[in-house]
Amino acid sequence: MEELKKIAAHEAVKEIKDGMIVGLGTGSTAKYAIIKLGEMVKEGIEIVGIATSLRSEKLAKEVGIKVADINEYEEIDITIDGADQVDTKKNLIKGGGGALLREKIVASCSKKEIIVVDESKLVENFSFPLPVEVVKFGWRHTADKLSKLNFEPKLRENFVTDNGNIILDCSYDRLSPNFSEMEKEINAIAGVVENGLFIGLADEIIVGTKEGVKRIL
Ligand code: A5P
Repeated sequence: MEELKKIAAHEAVKEIKDGMIVGLGTGSTAKYAIIKLGEMVKEGIEIVGIATSLRSEKLAKEVGIKVADINEYEEIDITIDGADQVDTKKNLIKGGGGALLREKIVASCSKKEIIVVDESKLVENFSFPLPVEVVKFGWRHTADKLSKLNFEPKLRENFVTDNGNIILDCSYDRLSPNFSEMEKEINAIAGVVENGLFIGLADEIIVGTKEGVKRIL
């Protein structure tokens, strides 16, 4: 599986050109893109990275990528990020690594969002528990409200996000098919900061398969 993650990530970095502002995703697949970008920097390409998490920022700096504050730039040229599940319409579930809030902010400021996954993550119907970032204060009440939307929220143990919040991993039998509506409904609950449904944000999915890379455009 590692090899499939790597070929997808390496395919994505081919789109990065000199002078670009590049969003740096989080997770074990995006990590391969960051490492490859570091190699490209050593070979002379000049880019500025915008990290989606503290750990991606650390890795980027370690491999020699200049990392800047997202507020310094109006737009990000290309972001390369992973996902926990992807459907054929390029909808995503993200947040397995807990970085969904910064990932969504960066994605929403990116001219192009490329998602890199191995083939096991491409699904017809989502099943990955939806990560929801919530503030710690009153989280049991926030969880109760999520239950009323037919989720079964479970507190992610011993985990605090980069923003000082907690994560509720929300299982479900079947997600309501109107994802955009669901995304809004969840975010309308007091105490919810953001959820891991990424609808209409991905421009291109690069899938690492045993037969090579495949693209969903
Ligand atoms: C981080 O919060 C997530 O959104 C990741 O993008 C996602 O969990 C994918 O990570 P892996 O590439 O490690 O599976």
